[in-house]
Amino acid sequence: MKVLVTGSNGMLGIDLCALLELEGHTVIRTDLNIREGLAIPQWLPLDITDTDAVTAIIDTHKPDFVVHGAAATDVDGCERNPDMAYRVNGLGTWNIAAVCGARDIPLVYISTDFVFDGTKTVPYTEFDKTNPISHYGGSKLAGEKFVSELCHKRFIVRTAWLYGINGNSFPAKILELAKTRTELSVVTDEIGSPTHTLDLARTIILMIDSPLYGTYHVVNAGQCSRYELAKITLELAGVKSMKINTMCASQYSSPTKRPAYSVLRRYMLELQNRDNLPTWQAALQEFINLR
Ligand SMILES: NC(=O)c1ccc[n+]([C@@H]2O[C@H](COP(=O)([O-])OP(=O)(O)OC[C@H]3O[C@@H](n4cnc5c(N)ncnc54)[C@H](OP(=O)(O)O)[C@@H]3O)[C@@H](O)[C@H]2O)c1
Repeated sequence: MKVLVTGSNGMLGIDLCALLELEGHTVIRTDLNIREGLAIPQWLPLDITDTDAVTAIIDTHKPDFVVHGAAATDVDGCERNPDMAYRVNGLGTWNIAAVCGARDIPLVYISTDFVFDGTKTVPYTEFDKTNPISHYGGSKLAGEKFVSELCHKRFIVRTAWLYGINGNSFPAKILELAKTRTELSVVTDEIGSPTHTLDLARTIILMIDSPLYGTYHVVNAGQCSRYELAKITLELAGVKSMKINTMCASQYSSPTKRPAYSVLRRYMLELQNRDNLPTWQAALQEFINLR
């Protein structure tokens, strides 16, 4: 299959494109910028907010399938500049969805746990009500709505707390800080579903050629706080030189309100008997081994 990927030079995009090629697919990589220091195979520049450019690239390459991973992912940047967030995550996704819908090209849109408000105390299913409390979450939800309205053949894939070897993720930052610091305070009252980009990419690839369109939660199994994630990251990496202290989210300085509890349940995959994602601890170990 010929698969066009947006955001191909991002943390998820790099892993996804490499896996797609390993599986024998032809990949059209598209992104806004090159990432310094990374050797990325041939890719095409594409700004998803440019309607004509999106139409032209899809009509030129005629992909069998599109994975739309490009997004403005700096949550605080989106909070400070909501117009930018809605332009990239809303309008940009509208552009992709409109062309895929009109050409009947199946589309995977990567969305987020930030579409929920975090007031639940048990994991969110695909049937729970969305209610974003940040502009990042609101703009990604706008993207979901455009995809639902414009594309019949669509997968909306909500994921969370992503990390991968080609990105500046939370576990990567913890390991980096441990090189120079002896103590760090991390929040205990933010609970989520840490997810390895490789496991997400493996699940996305199963969607290619599948007719089971819909909204799916795709995260590693289990849940933890940021504090637990930091502690286990150091433990699995065998790092003993940095002590992790606890703090509350209210003590953490950020312009963005984050959901206090955004654990996702892979309910659609469970109902289909296809839920076999590894635990977050096993996935984290794989990430550490690959570093
Ligand atoms: N990271 C997480 O924890 C997380 C959690 C839930 C969902 N997600 C979703 O998962 C997807 C992948 O996330 P990621 O962490 O891999 O993000 P990432 O590393 O930031 O990759 C996103 C890519 O999109 C590009 N991009 C930004 N604006 C664009 C534009 N106007 N046109 C074309 N490309 C543009 C970025 O380029 P620049 O870097 O040059 O801006 C970047 O290469 C995103 O849709 C994100 O919303 C992420």
